[in-house]
Amino acid sequence: MKKSPPVADWATDYDILDPDYAKDPLPVWRDLRARCPIAHSDRWGGSWMPTRYEDMQAFVKMVPALSSKEPIVVPPVKAFDPELDQHGTDAPPITSDPPEQIPIRRLILPFFTPKAVAEHRPFTEALCARLIDGFIDQGSCDAAVQYAQEIPSRVIGHMLGIDPARNDEFVGWVRNVLEFGLSDPEIRVKYRRVIRGFFADMVAERRANPGDDLISQLLAKKLGGEPVTDGMVIGMCNLLLVAGIDTTWSSIGAALWHFSCHPGDRRRLAGEPELFPSAIEEMLRFYSPVTMARVATEEIQAGNVTFKPGDRVLMNFPAANHDPEIFDRPDEVILDRERNRHIAFGVGIHRCAGSNLARMEMDVALRAWFARIPEFELADPDAVTWAGGQVRGPRNLPVRFKAG
Ligand code: HEM
Repeated sequence: MKKSPPVADWATDYDILDPDYAKDPLPVWRDLRARCPIAHSDRWGGSWMPTRYEDMQAFVKMVPALSSKEPIVVPPVKAFDPELDQHGTDAPPITSDPPEQIPIRRLILPFFTPKAVAEHRPFTEALCARLIDGFIDQGSCDAAVQYAQEIPSRVIGHMLGIDPARNDEFVGWVRNVLEFGLSDPEIRVKYRRVIRGFFADMVAERRANPGDDLISQLLAKKLGGEPVTDGMVIGMCNLLLVAGIDTTWSSIGAALWHFSCHPGDRRRLAGEPELFPSAIEEMLRFYSPVTMARVATEEIQAGNVTFKPGDRVLMNFPAANHDPEIFDRPDEVILDRERNRHIAFGVGIHRCAGSNLARMEMDVALRAWFARIPEFELADPDAVTWAGGQVRGPRNLPVRFKAG
């Protein structure tokens, strides 16, 4: 990642890619919420960063005054890739506003209902067991690389009918778009093209030989009374791949990070497995990985700041989830927290379409891990790395435990 100068004042010059901020953003959010709840920065093309729950709830409703056409804040990719601009179908529905967004979202929701997702649970359980088999005898592993990363990519790959041998390849593409590409638009554009090209080939192949996978089923659907176009399906697959991998990888990894360095919570969860559902919600709240963005299409007065047309606004759901106005003891992990109205999956019309899948993957991943590795700790705290920016989570997490 390219280095940038240190931050002078987080209220006027924040840096979402600052490595210390990626490791622990809580002190910055506490400070900003108290003295400047909507901060601004000129870095990475300029953006606003709200930190309060109430503001987030209000902003998601301002549609299309706050449009989803540019959900990534770092410098305008379109300047590097005019082709993407012409399609206008980069990653629908996350990159579209109503009225177009509504029917597109409806096309994908049936694949992610609790019932549809439950069908992928046995695959996920077998996958987690196999991954643990691969390292348990060594008494150590990189829980981010060898475990958390492998789960969402293989599950979504399985749902889309992608050849499992290509898993490492497409994880690399997604990281180049969402992680390394954040500070380098040329890399981002290059890999967006790779992903679109890959899905263009798959769509052509599934048109010719339909199967029972998600792509074949999408291709058989109608949008606005017309058969769905190849371009639209390519855009949707691009989104499912990009939205489904880093996000859930980050959540599983952050949970394993938490339990590897908080032995009290780890022992409690291992001894009281009935806490898994509330513990997972608490992990999602505390370590919320996703911050999408909006672009103002008109002048908007927000508290004592004014968004001008073209201004980008970070949908800081993670900071909102630590707002003391809403959450009791917000900066503490409480595994059996009773009232937890977190918005890690966003809120409003773009609320995560894959939340049932993400929750199922987290549930299977953590239960499978705790059943066989109830005691574990960081092997080398200095070797832990965190990705920041708009998807935050551990990318290296060496842990050790008693060999199985
Ligand atoms: C823990 C894991 C996940 C988190 C925290 C998360 C978070 C989010 C958030 C915050 C949004 C709203 C974006 C906005 O308002 O602009 C969103 C949208 C979306 N997510 Fe997720 N996500 C996760 C996993 C997944 C998975 C596994 C999938 C599917 C494979 C998925 C698919 C989507 C889609 C399709 C949208 C766009 C919905 C729309 O625009 O109507 N997500 N996600």
